[in-house]
Amino acid sequence: MSDIKLHDKTFETYLPESQIQEAVKRLAEEINKDYQGKKPIILSILNGSFIFTADLVRFFNFPLTVEFVRYSSYKGTTSTGTITKMLGMKSDIKGKDLIIVEDIIDTGFTLHNALKDLRAQEPASIKIASLLVKPKALKHDVPCDYVGFNIPNDFVVGYGLDYDEYGRDLPAIYKLKE
Ligand code: IMP
Ligand code: MG
Repeated sequence: MSDIKLHDKTFETYLPESQIQEAVKRLAEEINKDYQGKKPIILSILNGSFIFTADLVRFFNFPLTVEFVRYSSYKGTTSTGTITKMLGMKSDIKGKDLIIVEDIIDTGFTLHNALKDLRAQEPASIKIASLLVKPKALKHDVPCDYVGFNIPNDFVVGYGLDYDEYGRDLPAIYKLKE
């Protein structure tokens, strides 16, 4: 498979489309088992998880609604760091089962803070599905219930993930070439 170039960088294939689709089906089967008789809200964290969310929901076999949120992280120069909600939800999530869908958990900073915001709205339950997790980069305790792939600390693009906003449309996942 050939390399691709985005801006100034070259990327090589890391997870082919077929492997991603197998993982999506496996995760959907696990989630289907856990949500029989429930009507969860699927909460997709923009922008990165739009493709993963679209693929995942089409394998679900329970009634669901989909919501999108966008958080912007400002890690800045202080150690405290914070996130700002750029786009919120229409629905009231109080008493509802929530499944958060993420593309990747890197340091866990975004989800750690998003969880604080979401828990304050008192949903009945929260579970997290992330296609990718970088366990060695984790700095915050984020309980990920459904993991597609644990990956090394490489920078990856494709299948929703971007390098400076480009590459989200690629059906496979590529990693930065050394
Ligand atoms: P965290 O807050 O450090 O867990 O980072 C989460 C966000 O950083 C993800 O939702 C992505 O938008 C972005 N990110 C982290 N690692 C990568 C990567 O390897 N490629 C592209 N985006 C990434
Ligand atoms: Mg993201």
